[in-house]
Amino acid sequence: MTSTLYKCLFIFSALSFCVSQPSNQDLPPQEPIAEKENPSHRRLAPVNVDFAFRLFKNLISRAPDRNVFISPVSISMSLAMLSLGARAATHTQLLESLGFNLTETSDLEIHQGFQYLIHLFNNSDTGLEMNMGNVLFLDSQIELMETFMAEIKHYYNVEVFSADFQNSTRAKKQVNDFVKNKTLGKVDQLFKELDSDTMLILISYIFFKGRWAKSFDSNVTEMQKFYTGENVSVDMLMMFQSRANNHLFDKELSCTVVQLEYSGSATAFFILPDEGKMDQVVAALSRDMLNRWSQLRRYRHVDLYIPKLCISESYDLEDVLREMGVMDIFTSQANLSGITKEASVQLSEFLHKAVLSIDEEGTEAAAGTGLNVIFKSYHPIIKFNRPFLFFVFDHFTWSSLFLGKITNPV
Ligand SMILES: *[C@@H]1O[C@H](CO)[C@@H](O)[C@H](O)[C@H]1NC(C)=O
Ligand SMILES: *[C@@H]1O[C@H](CO)[C@@H](O)[C@H](O)[C@H]1NC(C)=O
Ligand SMILES: *[C@@H]1O[C@H](CO)[C@@H](O)[C@H](O)[C@H]1NC(C)=O
Ligand SMILES: *[C@@H]1O[C@H](CO)[C@@H](O)[C@H](O)[C@H]1NC(C)=O
Ligand SMILES: *[C@@H]1O[C@H](CO)[C@@H](O)[C@H](O)[C@H]1NC(C)=O
Ligand SMILES: *[C@@H]1O[C@H](CO)[C@@H](O)[C@H](O)[C@H]1NC(C)=O
Ligand SMILES: *[C@@H]1O[C@H](CO)[C@@H](O)[C@H](O)[C@H]1NC(C)=O
Repeated sequence: MTSTLYKCLFIFSALSFCVSQPSNQDLPPQEPIAEKENPSHRRLAPVNVDFAFRLFKNLISRAPDRNVFISPVSISMSLAMLSLGARAATHTQLLESLGFNLTETSDLEIHQGFQYLIHLFNNSDTGLEMNMGNVLFLDSQIELMETFMAEIKHYYNVEVFSADFQNSTRAKKQVNDFVKNKTLGKVDQLFKELDSDTMLILISYIFFKGRWAKSFDSNVTEMQKFYTGENVSVDMLMMFQSRANNHLFDKELSCTVVQLEYSGSATAFFILPDEGKMDQVVAALSRDMLNRWSQLRRYRHVDLYIPKLCISESYDLEDVLREMGVMDIFTSQANLSGITKEASVQLSEFLHKAVLSIDEEGTEAAAGTGLNVIFKSYHPIIKFNRPFLFFVFDHFTWSSLFLGKITNPV
């Protein structure tokens, strides 16, 4: 029997814009919307994964002792969507910071790639139990360019709602209620404050209901120590399973890697650096490293302990994105003339919030569990009882759904 409770990972980015001093600007040239059915998402995948690791490493370097948890694909998608309304340097910075070489890849290919990705994520064939979408809240006083509206709907399936930002209390409630509803209550009170100049808010959300292909037996989950530092520990619930799983001991990089499948096409990597080797492992993270691990892994019996946890992280990504090359959009240099004719439009915030919970549930009853062999086992024992890394990929599209570094799980 499978419980209906969601183990959820879920995420979401929010952007909010400020508008001041309306004035008249020329219409930007209209961009044609192509209907070509072209799965360019395959070409997007490596670029998106590289971006994901760059962003992840940057966030870790800013707070080496903290948990980090993000949904890179959601952030990439928001930035690409925004580029539809950006012009000149603002436009180039957005796409180049995502890692696209604009002489090799056209805007059209990029947007078609994301369009196809959204289509796949929303398609039950992939078996991904995921809820994702993009939504725009717009003040009735602001008029958006028709091309922008048409393109964000066409490529990113954006739902548009009008909001009364003149009454920021009411607008905040409307937006927060919407997000709370879409994330089944997991993201509450997204915006604490709304800038009084806010005229529109663009939100990407992902709610991933990951269920393990092979569940953990909740009967053997028990309190154990998690070492947050040398000689420093916290007590937490540790889940256990004893069965065959893909794993490897990477002697060269000094870490242990376990790969667990979710039901559907999502797969999770748990990476446990040897003591004192976290920085070395983080520095080596790359697409090549993932490929290497995929080749080295072996499907063998292992006794596995993984903490049961729920963490929530929020970020204002402005500083990180500036450092990664997205500069003009946050300043008066912003050219968002493709979004609206109003002058002086700039991005006021780029919020990202992700909630992760890992627990026992799977789609398949735990087999071979309840064995009281925990302390008598002859299998290798892998215990995630010190800081570790946690990644979720969709192996159908090779998208980085989530990247996390867990330094303190409570
Ligand atoms: C924005 O870019 C467009 C196209 O490059 C240009 O025509 C326009 O003058 C720019 N607007 C601003 C406010 O810089
Ligand atoms: C972009 O691609 C072109 C053509 O393949 C290449 O000449 C150029 O060096 C690339 N630019 C970057 C920054 O990689
Ligand atoms: C997902 O699919 C459903 C039904 O096919 C559709 O109504 C919905 O708009 C789609 N959502 C996205 C974000 O594409
Ligand atoms: C703003 O909205 C709130 C909630 O709907 C309402 O109680 C309040 O009277 C409104 N304020 C103004 C100035 O309209
Ligand atoms: C939440 O979503 C459900 C299902 O989509 C809908 O029926 C309900 O009215 C929504 N509630 C709010 C407060 O938006
Ligand atoms: C867990 O324990 C309960 C109560 O002892 C038992 O009914 C159930 O079968 C056990 N579950 C597993 C998977 O062993
Ligand atoms: C940890 O405990 C050991 C043994 O008590 C001690 O030698 C060591 O200095 C301690 N390390 C730290 C960082 O406190």
